[in-house]
Amino acid sequence: MEERKKIIFSGVKPSGDLTLGNYLGAIKNWVNLQEEYDCYFCVVDLHAITVKQEPKELRRRTLEILSIYIASGIVPEKNTLFIQSHVSAHSEASWLLNCNSYMGELGRMTQFKDKSQKYGESIGAGLFTYPVLMAADILLYNADLVPVGIDQKQHLELSRDIAERFNRVYSPTFTVPDAYIPTFGAKIMDLQDPSKKMSKSEENPNGYILIMDPPEVIRKKVSRAVTDSIGVVNYTDDQPGVKNLINILSSIKGVPAEDIVKSYEGLGYAELKRDVADSIVSELEPIQNKVRDLMNDKTYLEEIYKKGADKANYVAMKTLRKMQKKIGLIPR
Ligand code: TRP
Repeated sequence: MEERKKIIFSGVKPSGDLTLGNYLGAIKNWVNLQEEYDCYFCVVDLHAITVKQEPKELRRRTLEILSIYIASGIVPEKNTLFIQSHVSAHSEASWLLNCNSYMGELGRMTQFKDKSQKYGESIGAGLFTYPVLMAADILLYNADLVPVGIDQKQHLELSRDIAERFNRVYSPTFTVPDAYIPTFGAKIMDLQDPSKKMSKSEENPNGYILIMDPPEVIRKKVSRAVTDSIGVVNYTDDQPGVKNLINILSSIKGVPAEDIVKSYEGLGYAELKRDVADSIVSELEPIQNKVRDLMNDKTYLEEIYKKGADKANYVAMKTLRKMQKKIGLIPR
């Protein structure tokens, strides 16, 4: 008998336009997982609305992310691509898990602590329960592995705690998921301040590259990237700007950082920046063209997300029914 493929779940939140960091840190790696694993890739729109979203922009970004998945090489027929809000089990399971989670553990999440500093008393309740919805996403599919960046590791740990607790209290129900950290999925830093993660929410747009940035904008942003006065291409924490550029090249080419460093012996930052810009443009340009085509073919996108939702719904509903039954809710 053929062995069951391991299950992978991951998602991207349509709260801002995606950056090169989202692409290299997540989506590009997912492409390599689709043969070996049974993958669910979701656009987590319900997570996006934990902060205010302009409805029209939210709709556009949700479809754009789905298009980026497909344009990057994730094959819809081989995976389950869907939009979170299309599968109501996510919201329902999230409530059930909320009732089995503690204020204390949610209050310890650093992402929540950071945001509550920013918003104070008027922080949305959704930001507090955000990791419970994420646990629901993962646990409904009994995911074995969850590819996440370092910043989401704490949320994943919490998903494990929630799963283990539920299994203990109500009898084994969920697979306890593991984080999946990809080999070349280095964290991409801000080009202007390499001590911070590359993020769309930074004030200075020169700090980030968007997946949909035109080639000339990409070249300009790379040429303005902050380096240092050392002038030698080294992979060290003392040269965070250069290290970040090397990480970008390394992720795009799938070549270890040390080999990249060797190839710049006797060369300077100008050559490095030129190659980084070239590699980003040649990686992103075909994806951008495909995304534009897909965004102009809403019928096709609709077909994909409807099929995805049907597939996801079938699996998620089975898990949700189990949860309801074990908790003591009367089946209809
Ligand atoms: N919270 C994740 C992020 O901000 C997105 C996300 C939501 C997610 N649900 C998930 C990631 C489930 C992995 C699995 O990046």
